[in-house]
Amino acid sequence: MSTRDPLVWPKWPLYDSEEYSAVRRVIKSNQLYASVEVKRFEDQYAEYIKCKYAIGLGNATQGLHLALASLDVGVGDEVIVTPYSWISSASCILMQNAIPIFCDIESESFGLDPQELERKITEKTKAIIVVHMFGYPAKILEISAVARKYGVPLIEDASHAHGAKVGGVSIGNFGTISVFSLHQRKAISVGDGGIVCTNQKKIFNKIRKLRSFGDEELSYNYRMTEFAGALGQVGLSKLDHHNKIRHSNAHLLAKLLAGQKNLKVLLGREDEDTVFYAVLIEVVGDINDLESRLAYLQSIGIPICKTWDPLHIHPHFNPRKVPARGLPWKHVDYSGLMRNTSYSRLNLPVTKKYCPNRLLEIYVHPPTGTKEISFAAKNIKLLFNK
Ligand SMILES: Cc1ncc(COP(=O)(O)O)c(C=O)c1O
Repeated sequence: MSTRDPLVWPKWPLYDSEEYSAVRRVIKSNQLYASVEVKRFEDQYAEYIKCKYAIGLGNATQGLHLALASLDVGVGDEVIVTPYSWISSASCILMQNAIPIFCDIESESFGLDPQELERKITEKTKAIIVVHMFGYPAKILEISAVARKYGVPLIEDASHAHGAKVGGVSIGNFGTISVFSLHQRKAISVGDGGIVCTNQKKIFNKIRKLRSFGDEELSYNYRMTEFAGALGQVGLSKLDHHNKIRHSNAHLLAKLLAGQKNLKVLLGREDEDTVFYAVLIEVVGDINDLESRLAYLQSIGIPICKTWDPLHIHPHFNPRKVPARGLPWKHVDYSGLMRNTSYSRLNLPVTKKYCPNRLLEIYVHPPTGTKEISFAAKNIKLLFNK
């Protein structure tokens, strides 16, 4: 194959006879919504990350919503969140009619900057949401120390971070509540699904009530299906093996692109276990025509793209029209940090520097291997040396 012939990049998820029999088992059982399969998956997931309780849900967005609801976050409360994430990390705050306070990121793992975080804490702060982007742990020890110092509950959005660890402790155990996504693209892939973990019994009981038509408090139908529970068990059993493949692909890519003057493959901090939901590549030098270079690489089959626009400029926080439920930061009684500021005008210099133009992501899921990674590296080099 010449360097420029398109390549068919392996698809994700990667299913085999184990997933087929899991799905068949559910069909045969005639029990399709949350029951024994979900319970088994919850127990196995809790055991895997070594936390006391796990609760399966329809997706991680629901998990983030219930995490805030279980902490009684509501009208007039501020929740500090990263601007560098998928919309769910911050839209969940609006679901509780609370006010998102975007805090700038650091430039190593692109999570919340612990020092900036401390500056944003006020008496209105009711929770902090940290995201472990693309499976690279945020500076979670420092962040959880800040949360503890001020007595503010910490929610880990670990949607990308199945199996990641810091100091030998699984991501998902550093805050009050953690939330993992099981969406089709994620490392454990059930179509749509989410799992929430906590070490606090009270929170566990509350989220279980909120998940399925609880009694007194406004609650929801956010249940997981038995199909998702059964697929989740298989995905979990393969996770460590799959993470090893992602890890070796990331390291191979870094080796092949070492010395590239305008790009740097990011491998995470050495003393942490990064899980490479995707591999991040930092654009270091000035590169013109980045869009067309990426479009070319995509046209020959390489799944590389820019990551995300920052959330504070998202229309949810800068709507043209006031939605029927109102805007929590415009409430007459609200006098906090966002009272006289518009989200799009926030000054978040590190976020501005990196998003969306200085970070690229490339997918390295199994069965991607040496052939694909070498092809990608060769073509990236050819194109970025021009
Ligand atoms: C960081 C992050 N948080 C939350 C979510 C929401 O996950 P779900 O699709 O399971 O609701 C996603 C989805 O991709 C995500 O990337």
